[in-house]
Amino acid sequence: LIQYHDSMAGMGPETLEGFFDGWPRSPTLVARWRILCGSAERVLAVDDETGRVVGFVTAISDRMFCASIPLLEVLPQYRRRGIGRELMRRMLEKLRGLYMVDLVCDPQMQPFYESLGMKPLVAMTIRNPDVLSEPEVR
Ligand SMILES: CC(C)(COP(=O)(O)OP(=O)(O)OC[C@H]1O[C@@H](n2cnc3c(N)ncnc32)[C@H](O)[C@@H]1OP(=O)(O)O)[C@@H](O)C(=O)NCCC(=O)NCCS
Repeated sequence: LIQYHDSMAGMGPETLEGFFDGWPRSPTLVARWRILCGSAERVLAVDDETGRVVGFVTAISDRMFCASIPLLEVLPQYRRRGIGRELMRRMLEKLRGLYMVDLVCDPQMQPFYESLGMKPLVAMTIRNPDVLSEPEVR
């Protein structure tokens, strides 16, 4: 059974293996844990049989006006059973009182986010992959 949590209590860096699937470089386990702890809001999906995190979504926010959702991921072996949608549904509910809630996605993900009530927008960005770890030091 999948349980949803919004706190990192009892969750260490070792519970965050397997994420950033397919990224050539990614945050270390400790960096992932710090990302989750440091986010204004988070929702974790935990498999209660293993105690492992199988999906999560984060939001950064000024808690008054706006929020952004930088990360949503479900482990590959747990995808396509509604966990990603439930994570987003719970996160949007937490952010309901804010004027703006933004995220960046690839075009093929637009229908998924539209089905959650979101609208397309043009985005701009800077990405610095050099700040992430090489695979061997993860
Ligand atoms: C996106 C993601 C979180 C969805 O998690 P999930 O638990 O599989 O999501 P759900 O089962 O709730 O919903 C699946 C829906 O997501 C959409 N979706 C997922 N991956 C998709 C893809 N590669 N292309 C298009 N739509 C996709 C589809 O609408 C799908 O519905 P369907 O199964 O009826 O076709 C998961 O695929 C993932 O972790 N992907 C890698 C990271 C990523 O892309 N994150 C989003 C960044 S914007």
